Amino acid sequence: MGERRYERSGSSASRARSAISKTIIGVGILPVVRSMNGEQPSSTGAPHAYPFLAIVLRQLGYEARMGDVALYEFGPGIWTSEGPIISFFGFRYPTRMAVIRLPNRGLFVWSPVALSTTLKQDVDALGSVRCLVSPSRLHHLYLGEWKSAYPSARLYASPDLRAKRKDLAFDADLGDAPESEWAGEIDQAPVRGSFLTEVVFFHRESGTAIFADLVQNFPPDWFASWRGVLARLDGICAPNPGPPREWRATFFNRGAARASLRAILSWPIERVLMAHGDPVCADGLSFVRRAFGWLL
Ligand SMILES: [Fe+2]
Repeated sequence: MGERRYERSGSSASRARSAISKTIIGVGILPVVRSMNGEQPSSTGAPHAYPFLAIVLRQLGYEARMGDVALYEFGPGIWTSEGPIISFFGFRYPTRMAVIRLPNRGLFVWSPVALSTTLKQDVDALGSVRCLVSPSRLHHLYLGEWKSAYPSARLYASPDLRAKRKDLAFDADLGDAPESEWAGEIDQAPVRGSFLTEVVFFHRESGTAIFADLVQNFPPDWFASWRGVLARLDGICAPNPGPPREWRATFFNRGAARASLRAILSWPIERVLMAHGDPVCADGLSFVRRAFGWLL
């Protein structure tokens, strides 16, 4: 979220203490995801590479050096990868990207994180990268890196991103209608009414709604001390997650925002994937409805 930089702050002891709890959180998600997938190995040959050691090292802050990031299957036809934890105004933010495989084995890459050797191997095992997609102008940092690695992929700009990233040659701008590359497989809805427009996606095959920053779902104890208090007050923590309250307050055009939300709530959402926080694996539509209860 926002301008990112790697963070390795705090003492080794504090990082170790944090690692214990965060590793439990990290490992805890695996049974859920794998149970959801029936413990089936990837049908694509791409590995479910998410070893315990990698999780520990990531939580200790070594993700940028270990290159341990890899894909795991989130649902039918959709994979995700955890990026490094970044600092956003001093708040520790976990990051996440998504990869959707289209029927022609072309890959739709959403909000890509740093491209490690391992991640590239896993992506290449899935198919051919065709679409590099930024969901909002806050999620763009690694587009250039991925475009260099996959020069034939098309680059899609979120609203207002062209003006911000003049160094990138975008092929198209995201709008209300899905692009021909993913029409019929992935729906989309730009959420308007605020200073920042995020494009939310819905992957039909897996029933997954994909949010960047509009829905954040942190465990209540993810942030420590006063930051935890602020995060809970900000409405981005379980059990009542949603958009940050300062963002909610900027939706002055409620009519436009509600129209966007109606489009999202028309989707048969089963799962919810977000860039920051714990994914939701069941009854996603109810989750999204609760997250936007302030707007309904
Ligand atoms: Fe973000």
